Amino acid sequence: MYSTYRAAPEIDAVTTAIAIPGLGHLPVNSYVLHGAEPILVDTCPIVLRDEYLDALGTVIDPGDLRWLWLTHTDPDHIGAVAALLDANPQLRVITTFFGVGIMGLQSPLPMDRVNFVNPGETITIGARTLTGVKPPAFDNPITVGFHDSATNALFTSDCFGALFADEPPQRADDAGSDMQGGQVLWGTIDSSWLHKVDSDMFAFDLERIRRIEPDHVLSGHLPAASGAMLPTLLDTLARVPAADPFPAPDQAALDAMLAQMAQPVPA
Ligand SMILES: [Fe+2]
Ligand SMILES: [Fe+2]
Repeated sequence: MYSTYRAAPEIDAVTTAIAIPGLGHLPVNSYVLHGAEPILVDTCPIVLRDEYLDALGTVIDPGDLRWLWLTHTDPDHIGAVAALLDANPQLRVITTFFGVGIMGLQSPLPMDRVNFVNPGETITIGARTLTGVKPPAFDNPITVGFHDSATNALFTSDCFGALFADEPPQRADDAGSDMQGGQVLWGTIDSSWLHKVDSDMFAFDLERIRRIEPDHVLSGHLPAASGAMLPTLLDTLARVPAADPFPAPDQAALDAMLAQMAQPVPA
């Protein structure tokens, strides 16, 4: 079920949590940056499109949106892109060359409604400047997060995501220390290549993010976090390369899941 909350000044989160058998609950977030030219950051899983659009409509008239920053093209982020573009001819998509290419395989973007912003490049929208930032962890090489000058918020796409045993709290700051284990687990699943990185190079890259010193850290898969949490988030991410690789469930595990699902529900 979708809900919304104020994630930062002028920024609303539109969020749900997906239950993953045996692993926990994964927040799935989209963000609305209000202002003269409202910006949407990502959308929703394809299968949740209608429910998402209903929730989005409670924080903004989708016809008022002017920009959609697509952090990457995974199915949990692009579910409402086509519907929003169809309904709102003024909406433009911020992505990359390969973002357009991948979208072209399933739901082509109109090329005259696209702006490219690569890591390190900027786009000025009204009173805010958005600077593309490559997150230190990602599951799709086209990923581009960004920094918003107006709110000093850092949007990190899949990076810093966490699996929660129960429903996620509304703010990451309110989560207990269990969140760190859930964040490491997510890192081993979503960015398993981190097991192969050079630890010194990774530390250097984490320092690049630390120096941004944002006031807000807004991930696609973590409740909104204050900037004060960034050092903890980075230290937790630094544990992923040496963590145990995620053991993918095998056929026996699937059989056990199916048997459990076939159990009669007690009256
Ligand atoms: Fe992803
Ligand atoms: Fe994602």
